[in-house]
Amino acid sequence: MSERPYHVVLGITGGIAAYKAPEILRQLQQRGAEVRVVLTRAATRFIGRVTLEALSRHPVVVEMFEPNVNVAVRHVEMARWADLLLVAPATAHTLARFAHGLADDFLTTLYLSARCPVLVAPAMDAEMWENAATQENLARLRQRGVAVIPPERGYLASGIEGEGRLADPEQIVARALVILAARPYARDFDGEHVLITAGPTCEDLDPIRYLTNRSTGKMGYALAHAALARGAQVTLISGPTMLAPPPDAQVILVRRAEEMYRAVLAHMEAATVIIKAAAVADYRPKAFSPTKLKKTDADLTLALERTPDILAEVGRRKGSRLLVGFAAETEAHLEHGRQKLLQKNLDLIFINDATSAETGFAADENAGFLMDREGDVVELPKMSKYELAMRLLDRVRELLARRRVDADRERAEERR
Ligand code: CTP
Repeated sequence: MSERPYHVVLGITGGIAAYKAPEILRQLQQRGAEVRVVLTRAATRFIGRVTLEALSRHPVVVEMFEPNVNVAVRHVEMARWADLLLVAPATAHTLARFAHGLADDFLTTLYLSARCPVLVAPAMDAEMWENAATQENLARLRQRGVAVIPPERGYLASGIEGEGRLADPEQIVARALVILAARPYARDFDGEHVLITAGPTCEDLDPIRYLTNRSTGKMGYALAHAALARGAQVTLISGPTMLAPPPDAQVILVRRAEEMYRAVLAHMEAATVIIKAAAVADYRPKAFSPTKLKKTDADLTLALERTPDILAEVGRRKGSRLLVGFAAETEAHLEHGRQKLLQKNLDLIFINDATSAETGFAADENAGFLMDREGDVVELPKMSKYELAMRLLDRVRELLARRRVDADRERAEERR
């Protein structure tokens, strides 16, 4: 990695907490970052541009259209320059604009162009914070991999006490540095094609009922966002979820294990890395009834048959592709994980505890163990699914690099 300082774009939006932004800027600089500031028009009502220009030693950008500036390239250049886009404070309005992809000023246009990680620190009145619209927008941003530092409880400018006060600047800066430090290899997946499966499968009994599991697809979608952010081409094969598909991925939506199986085999050819995060049903109803099954007074026993084990089949055909599996376990985690790794011919397996409510299914966070073929195990403590996806990709990157060095050495020896 080069010795250049981290590049941070600090976006400031129009709320009372904007007065804390210079403190965040100073602390980032003290920790070795170079900071450029973007203000929304509303923010200029709360904080002076001159102050921020003096502190950042860069021109502060507010307007999309300014004299003597090439409108077409400025946001693109700044997006490329940034290692992190930090928006603090982030108002409900700007969160909504990000969530819906509006580009009606410089900051929102920059957000759409940015491929670097994005961290937002919301601050607003408690009622606005609790409003379903704000929470839905945040959930949507989180799904796309945006990191969020939630506001704290405290006295708000409106005079009431509640949740909505900007998180402590020190905490915001600490989180920014964690994100920056975790990503020293921006675009280190350039040239890789990552195929990811995500979500549950649904196995239909009749037109109304089906068998499924508690997977929401969050982990697989986080992996897709993370791989895209690092420059990979991504194919995402997803079972039914409530998540918005990542815009830059090739997305193939399936329902049943059988369909996922066919889609994976049809698309694995071009992949260099395959990550199977989907929770595939192991059994499906033996018969599908095209009409609704009617109840009788008797008990009902369902006959089930096995679905194909997609991962095991890919393990047989993988060739030089790097194959990563997941294991959701409720007991003897490492032992069961190791068995799956060997039986299915994987290169890496992520093992997590399916019984924990804070991590695993449906949670925004996850934790577990990453095990490779040599039996090396790395424990990953509780973190957001996006951060965990980044850590998993770090390991994939290492294994790919090691494998390519070995292949080069073998070729050189053959030539001798
Ligand atoms: N998997 C798959 N096809 C299946 C079942 C599982 O590709 N029919 C993959 C999952 O995507 C995951 C891995 O296998 O990457 C492990 O899934 P898991 O449900 O933990 O294990 P199973 O192999 O189904 O074993 P068991 O249910 O006995 O724990």
